[in-house]
Amino acid sequence: MSEQIMIEASALSKRYGDTRAVDLLTFQVQRGEVLGFLGPNGAGKTTTMRMLTGTLRPSEGEVRVAGIRVQDDPLGIRRRIGYLPENAPLYDEMMVVDFLRFTARMRELPVAEHGPRLKVTCDRCGLMDVLGKDIGQLSKGYRQRVGLAQALLHDPDLLILDEPTSGLDPNQIVEIRNLIKDIGKEKTVILSTHILPEVQATCNRILIMNEGRLVADDSPEGLLARQSGSTLQLQIKAEGTQELDSAIVRGKLREIDGLQSIEVVSAEGETGLRFKLAAKAERDLREAVFRKVVAEGWILLDMHREAASLEEAFRRLTLGDGTPTQASGEEQDHE
Ligand SMILES: Nc1ncnc2c1ncn2[C@@H]1O[C@H](COP(=O)(O)OP(=O)(O)OP(=O)(O)O)[C@@H](O)[C@H]1O
Ligand SMILES: [Mg+2]
Repeated sequence: MSEQIMIEASALSKRYGDTRAVDLLTFQVQRGEVLGFLGPNGAGKTTTMRMLTGTLRPSEGEVRVAGIRVQDDPLGIRRRIGYLPENAPLYDEMMVVDFLRFTARMRELPVAEHGPRLKVTCDRCGLMDVLGKDIGQLSKGYRQRVGLAQALLHDPDLLILDEPTSGLDPNQIVEIRNLIKDIGKEKTVILSTHILPEVQATCNRILIMNEGRLVADDSPEGLLARQSGSTLQLQIKAEGTQELDSAIVRGKLREIDGLQSIEVVSAEGETGLRFKLAAKAERDLREAVFRKVVAEGWILLDMHREAASLEEAFRRLTLGDGTPTQASGEEQDHE
C-alpha cells in the first residue's frame, strides 16, 4: 500500500519564532499524481516543499517518501526526489554541459551513466542547442530548463518544483508547462505556482494553503464545481412573434426562491432576452427557473451555468473565512 503513496505529510509544522509558517499540515500524494500547490505570498508553500525534500527540518510532524521517514534516510530520499528550488541558484559562468556534468557528480551518478543520462535529460528539456553556452547568457526560459534538467538528471520518481514558471513570458510559460505535463505522465510531480490557469492545465489535484494551513484539497473540477451553480445564464423569448417586456420578466423571475440578484445581459440582435441570475449560497436554481419559464409560457432558448473560475475559488478560500473544505468532507453550505 505504502508504495502507492509517494508522499505522506503528517501534522507537519514549521515555526520561526512566533510565526507559524506551516501549521499542522497533513496530506498524501499518490504515485503518478500531478499536484498543484497554491496559496498567496507567505502561505507556506516554499517552507512545505523544503520540508518535503528534507532541506528544512520540521518543528513538528514528519514526512514519509515512499514509506520512509525523511529524517531516517535523508540521502536515500534525495536520490528519489528532483527539486527545483524557488529562484534556483545556477552558476552563471559555467557552461550548461559543465553544470550538468557537475550535477551528475554531486548526485553521485555512476560515471558510466553520466553521458546517457545527460543526453536523455537535455533532449527532453530542449537543451541540446545550448549545451556550450554559459548559463549567464541564457534567457530565463532556458535557465528554467537547465533548472529542470538539474532536477531530472538522476531520474527521480518524484519532482518538487517551486514556481517553475515564475518570471517567464507567456510563450515560455506554455513551453515549460508542456514539459511538466509530459514529465507528469511518468512521474509524481508537486509544483507551486501563482498562475491559476497553470494548475488547471497541468494538475489533477490542487492543494490551497493560506497562512500555513490547508484550506482546500480537491481536483480542479471539484473546486470549480463548488463554485458553479451560483450563476446561471438564461435566454428566453415569447411564443410566436410577441416581444417580452424585460421589466415584467425580471419581476417574475425575482419570485424564484433562492435568487440573489438578476441582471439583463441581452446582446444586440439576439432573439428574446438574456439574463444572468446569481443564486444565494451556492444554490442550484435550474429546476426552479425551468418551472417558472414553463408556468409563464415562455420559450427557453438557453440555460447554462456560468463557467466558474479558479480565481474565484482561490479568492474565496484565501480571503474569505478560511473554512476548510476537503474533497472527502461533507457538503457544506457557505452562508
Ligand atoms: N528563514 C525564515 N525565517 C523567518 N521566517 C521565514 C523564513 N522562511 C519563511 N519565513 C516565513 O514563513 C512564512 C511562509 O513563507 P514561504 O516562503 O513558505 O511562503 P510561500 O507560500 O512560499 O510564499 P511565496 O508565494 O511568496 O513564495 C512567511 O511568513 C515567511 O515570512
Ligand atoms: Mg515560495
